[in-house]
Amino acid sequence: MSITEKDNQDIIGREDLNDIEAILSVTNTDVDEVLHAVRDDSDALFTWDYSLARPNLRRLYEKAKTGQWNGTTDLPWETPVDIEATIAADQAAIGAGIDPSQYADTPLAKWGEKEWVEFGIEGRRWSLSQFLHGEQGALLCTAKITETVPWYDAKLYASTQVVDEARHVEVFARYLEEKLGGGYQVNAHLRMLLDDIIKDSRWDMTYLGMQVMVEGLALAAFGFMHQLTGEPLLKQLLRYVMSDEARHVAFGVLSLQEAYAGMTDAEIKERQEFAYEASVRMRDRFLQQEVWEKMGVKPKEIVPLVLQDPTRMMFQQMLFAKIVPNCKKLGLLDRNDGWLRHRYEEMGVIQFEDWENTGDEYLQFELGKDAPPPVPH
Ligand SMILES: [Fe+2]
Ligand SMILES: [Fe+2]
Repeated sequence: MSITEKDNQDIIGREDLNDIEAILSVTNTDVDEVLHAVRDDSDALFTWDYSLARPNLRRLYEKAKTGQWNGTTDLPWETPVDIEATIAADQAAIGAGIDPSQYADTPLAKWGEKEWVEFGIEGRRWSLSQFLHGEQGALLCTAKITETVPWYDAKLYASTQVVDEARHVEVFARYLEEKLGGGYQVNAHLRMLLDDIIKDSRWDMTYLGMQVMVEGLALAAFGFMHQLTGEPLLKQLLRYVMSDEARHVAFGVLSLQEAYAGMTDAEIKERQEFAYEASVRMRDRFLQQEVWEKMGVKPKEIVPLVLQDPTRMMFQQMLFAKIVPNCKKLGLLDRNDGWLRHRYEEMGVIQFEDWENTGDEYLQFELGKDAPPPVPH
């Protein structure tokens, strides 16, 4: 059951999922913007029911209190980072993230080692910058959830996540500034997604957009970078952040399981469409159009090839390794005749549906334990 062009237009703003021209036309036109205002029409809810109604959320709250770390004193900031040597070593270990042989008739064919390393450095600065902006999105979303969620246990937990996210913003911003010489502005696809999540007045949509989709992707992406990089400061930074993120995704899955259990098919359909939209925005942002521009290459020439590049495809699909099983656990894949399942088939990511979901595996990410590998053996 494929999606109609009209439905695609309504949900993601273009008729064809793979319309490159439309994807690349979404750009950040105000790179000097400092403040970005989004109207938020939600009700802030008090609850006078202070009883322990949700032990699983309270357990998570207890874990969060003892899992705190200090971004200033727990990370080895004195580590010198030679970014060229780091990227060259990381590329030697796992490649440049794309397969150079796929770009024969493009400017990339003339690239020597210098250009590939430069591409790697810009890619690293760009990725960490988008993580940073996403972390600020999480900071704002969790402050909002603290206000809007009707459950006492969830308000307690959400308040700990606000502190966690502040710490994540702090360490990514500091790493970019001190070790990489600054970062990139927010990618327009990511900003559209963050705006949509913050704007929505229904409290569960904040969870779905942030805890399940954005943080699910972040957990997979952090795991991947943590495994690949040999830079010790970044490795440790990511490991610390992952220990928090796994809890955050679990918070989303545990809360939404209860919220969705009582929803009608029509209500679930709106959640499925939102999950699809978020997935497409995140896929679009990973085309990293700003990095191509910085390298002096026209994104239009390269991106169609990137979308076909098997090395790149593998990496992109991997990013959905947490999202798909979590959507399955929430019942979002199969309600309404498998509407979201079909979308994930079209995006080529349905194969992850039976991987471990984060509602169960967050304990494995605790500090002091070996985090599970991004790709299970
Ligand atoms: Fe975070
Ligand atoms: Fe988070």
